[in-house]
Formats: sequence, C-alpha cells, structure tokens
Amino acid sequence: MSQNATSPAGPDFARGVAARDVTETPLLGHANGEAVLLTRVAGEVCAVGATCTHYGAPLVDGHSADGAVRCPWHHACFSLRTGQALRPPALFDLPRYRVETAGDTVFVRERLQAPIPRRTPAARPRSVVIVGAGAAGNAAAETLRREGYDGPVTLVDPDPGAPCDRPNLSKDYLAGSAPAEWIPLHDAAFYEERAVEIRRARVRGLDAAAHRVALDDGATLDYGALILATGAEPIRLALPNAGTDVHVLRTLADSDGIVAAALGATRAVVLGASFIGLEVAASLRARGLAVHVVAPEARPLERVLGPALGDFIRALHEEHGVVFHLGRSARAFGVNAVELDDGASLAADFVVAGVGVRPAVALAEAAGLALDRGVVVDQGLRTSAPDVWAAGDLARWPDPHTGQAIRVEHWVVAERMGQTAARNVLGAGQRFDAVPFFWSQHYDVAINYVGHAERWDEIVVDGDPAARDCTVTYRAGGRELAVATIYRDTESLMYEAAMERRAGAAMPRG
Ligand SMILES: Cc1cc2nc3c(=O)[nH]c(=O)nc-3n(C[C@H](O)[C@H](O)[C@H](O)COP(=O)(O)OP(=O)(O)OC[C@H]3O[C@@H](n4cnc5c(N)ncnc54)[C@H](O)[C@@H]3O)c2cc1C
Ligand code: FES
Repeated sequence: MSQNATSPAGPDFARGVAARDVTETPLLGHANGEAVLLTRVAGEVCAVGATCTHYGAPLVDGHSADGAVRCPWHHACFSLRTGQALRPPALFDLPRYRVETAGDTVFVRERLQAPIPRRTPAARPRSVVIVGAGAAGNAAAETLRREGYDGPVTLVDPDPGAPCDRPNLSKDYLAGSAPAEWIPLHDAAFYEERAVEIRRARVRGLDAAAHRVALDDGATLDYGALILATGAEPIRLALPNAGTDVHVLRTLADSDGIVAAALGATRAVVLGASFIGLEVAASLRARGLAVHVVAPEARPLERVLGPALGDFIRALHEEHGVVFHLGRSARAFGVNAVELDDGASLAADFVVAGVGVRPAVALAEAAGLALDRGVVVDQGLRTSAPDVWAAGDLARWPDPHTGQAIRVEHWVVAERMGQTAARNVLGAGQRFDAVPFFWSQHYDVAINYVGHAERWDEIVVDGDPAARDCTVTYRAGGRELAVATIYRDTESLMYEAAMERRAGAAMPRG
C-alpha cells in the first residue's frame, strides 16, 4: 500500500545544491517532482526517496545514524546509501537516484535501477515450508529470496485473505477510510516472480522426524527446513446466546464481517478494552454507530500502559462518544442485547469481542515440540525439533533486553522474527535481538511503545498525555524497561537505538 504524506519541499536538487550543505544529516529536497533525501554516507554523496514505503511518513522527521534512517511512525529502517528496506514494517525499498558532482555543486539526476543482491547462503536446505502466511511467514518468504535462496519455498495458509496488512483491519480499513487495495501485503505477481508458492490449505500434522507436514487437503509436503508462523487465535466467549451476532477480529474476512454488520446498524457493543477492542470502538464511531465498551478492568489498557495513559485513553474515547462499562463483564447474549454481570442489559445490533488471543500452538503441541505458553525457541529462533524454527505471535524467545523469555503480539516483531528465522534457516547463525516495538492508533492519537515491561515498580510521566505530548517510562529495580510516547517520535526512535546499543544489537547490512 502507499500513501504519500510528503509533498516536495526544500531545494530543487535537480538544479543543484552546494556540496558543503550535504552532510551526514539527511537534507530534504526534491528532484523531478519526487521528494529526496541527500546525505553523505562514509564520504559518498547518496540520494534516496524521502517518503517511507510503509504508510508514507516523511523520513526527514526520523532518526538517522550509521548510514540508515529510521521512520518516525512505525520504526522501519532504510539504508541511506542504497535505499534498501532494512527493517519492517516497510516491505519495499526507497528509490535511489544518480548523483552528479560538478565543481562545488551536487545534482540529483534520474532514478537508478535497484541493485540486485548477489548473496550465497551458507546453508541450502532442499526446500523450505512456511506454515502461516501472516506477518512472520510473509517476511520469512521474502527474506529467503533476498538472501539468495533458490530452492523451493512454500507458504501454506488456508486464509484466502493472507498475507494481509492485519493492523489496518481494526483501523482505517474498518473505519472505511482505507481502500481494499491497501490490505494485501503484495499482489499474486510478487510471489510468482519470486517463485514462492502459496498453498491454500491448513497444516494439520507435523512429523518432525520424517521432515514432513500433512495438509488438510490430503497432500503431504516434505521439507528441508520448516518455519512455524501460525500466529495467534482470538479467544471466543462461550456464553449463552439467545440471538446476538458476535464477531471476533483477526482476518480480513472478520473485518469485512464487522463492516457488513455495521451497515444499517446503529448500536454496537465491544467486549474488552484491549488495543483491538478500542481500535474497533474508534472505527465504529467513525462509521457513526453508538458504541459501548464493556471490560472487567478499572481502566482501559492499564495493565500494559499504566494508570496515566489508561485514564487518557478512556477520556479520549469518551470525547469521541464511546460509553464505558468498566468493572463489568458480559454473562450472556440476549436477542440483540448483552447482559452484564450486574444485571444490566445493553442493546446491540452486533457485538465485537476483543478479549485477547491465544498463541496457535496446536500443531507444535501435537508434534511434541517444547512449549511454555507458546512455542519455545532459542536465541536463533530454533524450536526443540530438528530443522524447525518458529517466528511471530506463537514463539517465546530469550529476549536479550529484559533477560527473560518473552512472547509478544506485535506486527513488527513478528516480521523481524520471520526475517531472522529465514536467515538462520540459511545458516546465518543470527541472534534475535530486536527491541520489541508496537504502535496503536486511536482517532488522531498514535501511541508508540518500545521495549517490554510486564511488571514495573515505577512509572515516570514526562509531559502531559491530555496535551498529546508525553513520554512514559516504565522501570523495575531502577532499570528502564520500556517507553511509551505520544507525538514524540524522535524520542521513541532514540530510545530504541539506545536499547539496541546496550544489547549490542546490529543493524542488518544495506
Ligand atoms: C485487528 C488487529 C490489529 C492489530 N494491530 C496491531 C498494531 O497496530 N500494532 C502491532 O504491533 N500489532 C498489531 N496487531 C498484532 C499483529 O497483527 C500480530 O502481532 C501479527 O500479525 C503476528 O504475526 P504472525 O505472523 O505471528 O501471525 P499472523 O499474522 O496471525 O499469521 C498467522 C497465519 O497463520 C495461519 N495459520 C494458522 N494455523 C495454520 C495452520 N495450521 N496451517 C496453515 N496456516 C495456519 C493463519 O491463517 C494466519 O494467516 C494487530 C492484530 C490484529 C488482529
Ligand atoms: S510509515 Fe514508515 S514505518 Fe510506517
């Protein structure tokens, strides 16, 4: 998908710019109508596109160091020398431009063809099967090809909507402000060109000793290496239901189902003040529905973000007309109604349950892989079975930043795990050391969260959430574990970079 938020600003580089003005800090300008960043990388003058290929953020507002620029919105990272997308969520490289120097003046000329990487992997399994075409599975398939693997790659997933931009399903797409063509991560031609076969089937059995998976269409696939990327599944409430339409949200079909229910409806109830529940509430408000949110906690998102941001989130949604029923749970569904545990009844044309997910471990469990509230992987994302890696929401990995084994449900983390798993399938021997990052969008407010804090003993709020300008730091034992920011993108990026330096985490080559 694309969305250009940067209109050409700054000097016209096609007419020339003084060479002394080109430094290691990217300079924003334009050439031939396109926004361009001009930089010096190790002395070489380089020009690349200035607009993030994910959702179109202006990269000049990001953080640049060591020849790379980080995007201010969702922390993608690009090489300033080659334009290569080094880190997700950007899936496409930036355009690169020819640079000409005449005397003291630098000129930016036409776009250059993307360089074709010529890499020879250290290991070459006879085939790679990836189970699950979500964030992790898609990233793994792309990375296998980027890293030069030329054997068969099969991506198995029964969901006809996968791989899709899942985070958008509760945000602009559900609100009706993102067109359907933004949702697929790539078109069919992309996979065909890379000889990645997408097999529409569910893997129902894994024989790790025989290196074989069984599909629900009766076929079997032998593999040299297997990447498990089955993600997580929404929890479905098993409550008595006399006649209310109850939805969950994980897939494109789920999101379309909610859109269909919202057409002609006037009242919706959201169960769960989770990120997904609240994003759904915001999107349904954008569609003009009356929205009630029911959740057992005292403050929305307090367990993840603490009381200050919890209060802010509640006030923000209330400003937009959402009605909260906190400290309450649903006990049954009536006829177009939700009955609460205090006896109250809320009218609802339909309900969306955003009450959490469970890691999709059934396949791994049946195959006897080591589990611990997810699939256990080592620092290179290997499972306990030979030649089987796991990546994404289902995997619990030893996180070098907290020193704990953690499992998260974050889009960018899943993509980065998919990349690392793919490189390790090819013998790279990399440690997975990404700093966890997620974002969540509520109306015009984006919350960016870097790090991981399951518990804390101190929260420091700098600034004012209500003024949409704050940094919230979560500490335990005097150590900073995580930082949440609102409209302080540079701080979020700097914090991420500092955490990486502390753990010796490396930027991929560009
Ligand atoms: C509506 C929504 C909004 C979100 N918003 C954000 C956000 O704003 N920011 C953020 O950081 N994160 C967000 N997330 C979380 C993020 O989408 C997940 O962390 C990410 O998708 C996990 O990637 P994954 O590859 O592990 O799993 P998934 O993306 O869920 O993919 C798993 C795939 O595996 C397939 N599968 C499962 N079992 C099998 C099987 N047996 N055989 C074959 N295929 C199988 C499934 O069909 C699925 O396509 C959101 C999630 C949802 C649902
Ligand atoms: S807009 Fe750049 S990472 Fe999303």
